[in-house]
Amino acid sequence: MVPTPITVRVPAKVNLHLAVGDTRADGYHELATVFQALSLTDEVTVRSGEPGIDVHGEGADSVPTGSGNLAWKAVRVLAERCGRDPDAPGVQVSIHKGIPVAGGMAGGSADAAATLFALNALWRLELGRDELADLAGRLGSDVPFALQGGTALGTGRGERLVPVLARHTYHWVIALDRHGLETPDVYRELDRLRQSSAGGNGADGVEPVLEALASGDPRELALLLGNDLQAAAVSLRPGLRRTLRAGVEAGALAGVVSGSGPTCAFLCEDADSAVRVAAELSGAGVCRTVRVAQGPVHGARFAGEDRTD
Ligand code: C5P
Repeated sequence: MVPTPITVRVPAKVNLHLAVGDTRADGYHELATVFQALSLTDEVTVRSGEPGIDVHGEGADSVPTGSGNLAWKAVRVLAERCGRDPDAPGVQVSIHKGIPVAGGMAGGSADAAATLFALNALWRLELGRDELADLAGRLGSDVPFALQGGTALGTGRGERLVPVLARHTYHWVIALDRHGLETPDVYRELDRLRQSSAGGNGADGVEPVLEALASGDPRELALLLGNDLQAAAVSLRPGLRRTLRAGVEAGALAGVVSGSGPTCAFLCEDADSAVRVAAELSGAGVCRTVRVAQGPVHGARFAGEDRTD
């Protein structure tokens, strides 16, 4: 019997708080971050067949379809783990993008997480969450969070996760830029700014953020949004300053560059406010397009399953 295709939906992330520490011996930076999974999602379908990967949806043109795609690395890692030939895994991966490409929302990591989750089912491996998370961490810093979803504190490279209680549903407006930024470039720019002492630590301690999340008051959380990579992203893309200002002028409680950018995320008071902010921001001419999203949502799961937390 040929196994039926399996489709997994996987969320984007925003960093509510991202404190970047020292560079480690392996070249990565030590992080303390609070992730939240948002209702912007990719869908990844795996089926048995000729090995290959195809990508559809917005921004698909700039996503690699060969071995450079993180989802294909996930296929290889899992094939090796279960004794299949990683050069001939006999699986076809289709990605439908809803997460901005190179936008600082971990779209590539999400696809890798979804691929692990889907292949675990297609190949009937029955690997547990911990083992999948371990494989995910080897693929990239943000991959474990895309599996887990919700709201979580991330340390190490960002791959060591502890779930965080967040009772409230938060309403976001997401402003997408015309062109992406490469994550390594943004970290390099932060290092450069710090050497010239212009890129100080913007993000304070994580505890107040966790307290605000427990209280569920978006106004409290808005005061605490912070991202050390923001100065570097703005330095590489000065127009982001205008985007961040425009979101707040449109009525958002606060705005922050998402991860390494250039996507900006605006926290709003409630769902109605988010719709109003999105309409005004899209008319302001400061970004390519805007989206409304909610968080937290679940991590990778089979399409069709309930996605509310
Ligand atoms: O782990 P991932 O492959 O997603 O990271 C992409 C790049 O981002 C790394 O190669 C590195 O340049 C940078 N990075 C970092 N410190 C982290 C996470 C990512 O310097 N904690």
